[in-house]
Amino acid sequence: MTCAVLVDTVWLMPEKKPLIHMQQLMLRYPTGKTALSGITLDIKKGQFVYMIGESGAGKSSLLRMFYGGVRPSSGSLMVQHLDMRDANDAKIREIRQRTGIIFQDHRLLFSRTVFENVALPLRVQGWQTQRLIPRVRKVLEYVGLADRLWSYPQALSGGEQQRVAIARAMTANPPLILADEPTGNLDVDTARRVLDYLMDLHRNGATVIMATHDLHLLESHPGRVVQLHGGALVGDDS
Ligand SMILES: Nc1ncnc2c1ncn2[C@@H]1O[C@H](COP(=O)(O)OP(=O)(O)OP(=O)(O)O)[C@@H](O)[C@H]1O
Ligand SMILES: [Mg+2]
Repeated sequence: MTCAVLVDTVWLMPEKKPLIHMQQLMLRYPTGKTALSGITLDIKKGQFVYMIGESGAGKSSLLRMFYGGVRPSSGSLMVQHLDMRDANDAKIREIRQRTGIIFQDHRLLFSRTVFENVALPLRVQGWQTQRLIPRVRKVLEYVGLADRLWSYPQALSGGEQQRVAIARAMTANPPLILADEPTGNLDVDTARRVLDYLMDLHRNGATVIMATHDLHLLESHPGRVVQLHGGALVGDDS
C-alpha cells in the first residue's frame, strides 16, 4: 500500500511562515545542566531534517521542546504557530495532537495490544471504536503488521515494535513527525525500511525531524542535516 491513501490534503497547502522557528533558544534542566544554548533555526513545512551530533549533544532535548515536553529557559520558540514559552496545558495538548512522536525508547504500552497502541492518538481525539478500526487496520497494513493487530508488544521483535511506534505516530495523520533515533538498534535492512516509511510520509507532505547516529542512512535517503555539538548548533546544510 502506498502512503498516499493515508494522508489528508488539508495540510499540504503552501505556507510562508516556518513550521518551527527558534531564536537564541536555551534550555537549562532543573539539575542546572544547560542542554541547549544559542540555537537559531527555522524548519519549513515539508522538510525532512536529520538532527545529528554526539551522544549528549542535545538532540532529544531539542525534539522534546518541539512538543512541549520541556519549555525554553530563554530565547523564543514557535511550533505550528504556537509560542512554546507561555503555551498553557490545553494548547500543548493541541500541539501533541498535531504531532506524531517516535521516542528513542519507542514507549509502547506493553499491557495493551498493538491495536490499542496504534489507536491511542485517535482515542485521545475522541474517535469512536467503530470509526477507528478501519484506520488502525490501514496503518498497520501499511507497515506490514496487519496480522499482528491483537498481539502484545512483547511478542514482537525490536524492528516490529519500532514499526508499531511508526504506525502510532502516523495514525492521526499529523503534519509534523518527530522521530528520536527510530533506527537505533535495528539491522541495516530494517533501518532502511523504517526510513522508507518516514520518507514516504515526507513525500506526502509531512514535515519530518529525525535524530540519528546512523549517518550511512543519509546516502540512500538524503535530507537537510542539522548538527548539534555540546548543545550548540554547529552545522546546517540547508
Ligand atoms: N531530564 C534531564 N535532566 C537533566 N539533564 C538532562 C535531562 N535529559 C538530558 N539531560 C542532559 O542534557 C544533555 C543533552 O541530552 P540529550 O538527551 O538531549 O542528548 P542526545 O543528543 O539526545 O544524546 P543521545 O545521542 O545519547 O540520545 C546531556 O548532557 C544530558 O545528560
Ligand atoms: Mg537522544
